[in-house]
Amino acid sequence: MKGVLLAGGTGSRLRPLTYVTNKHLLPVYDRPMIFWSIELLKNAGITEILLISGPNHAGHFLNLLGSGKDHGVKLTYEVQEEAGGIAQAMGLAKSFADEESLAVLLGDNIFENDVKGPVEEFEKNPVGAKVFLTKVENPEWYGVAEIKDDQITNIIEKPKKGEEPSDLAVTGLYLYDNNVFDIVEKLKPSDRGELEVTDVNNAYLRDGKLQYVVLDGWWADCGESFEMYLKSQNL
Ligand code: DAU
Repeated sequence: MKGVLLAGGTGSRLRPLTYVTNKHLLPVYDRPMIFWSIELLKNAGITEILLISGPNHAGHFLNLLGSGKDHGVKLTYEVQEEAGGIAQAMGLAKSFADEESLAVLLGDNIFENDVKGPVEEFEKNPVGAKVFLTKVENPEWYGVAEIKDDQITNIIEKPKKGEEPSDLAVTGLYLYDNNVFDIVEKLKPSDRGELEVTDVNNAYLRDGKLQYVVLDGWWADCGESFEMYLKSQNL
């Protein structure tokens, strides 16, 4: 399985910190944010990684990470010309993925525990997709899973407060088989003008091919707000 690490986007919720600096280069405790996600992939046994960022910052990642050797991984780089959404960025990984399955990780997500077990499980039979859920206090900030009889029945992207189908957020780690590129090619932009990862996951769901895991341990989306950014440093 190969890894795709997303480090593009505008970082608008962390302005003014992100006017000049890419969000994923900001410090989280004692290291740049992006180091945590590289470590997560590596600890799950994924060492061939494509890092995708925007044109203004791609060179910064190269300066910081180089070949990836110091982190025990092999890095390749791709530029997303405009922040057209997580799924659009994923589409850029097609030739990198070749025929393999993929772990896609949002570079602003930090997980307490490693995910080696579920990743290895998926690798044994890499068909469909797997998402990682966790309980949160403010589901309206995320993609939220609706669950009936232990099955995901729908994922709603940023539901209105009071209309959340559960308190289970879909975190920014996704495992996909190689069909993900066919799904991305058929997507239409959402109301916010982006190709949405939630639409990709719902497409797998409609095909009966979406699995999920509920994570133990804390999880933080550092890009969500200043409160979450601060909280992630303390965690
Ligand atoms: O953190 C988990 C949440 O991430 C999920 O629950 C949501 O379903 C999912 O849509 C996403 O929500 P956000 O609104 O937090 O996504 P954001 O725009 O902050 O982007 C997340 C990461 O993806 C961030 O590391 C930057 C990267 N990104 C984003 C966009 C829009 C790109 O690399 N390119 C892009 O075009």
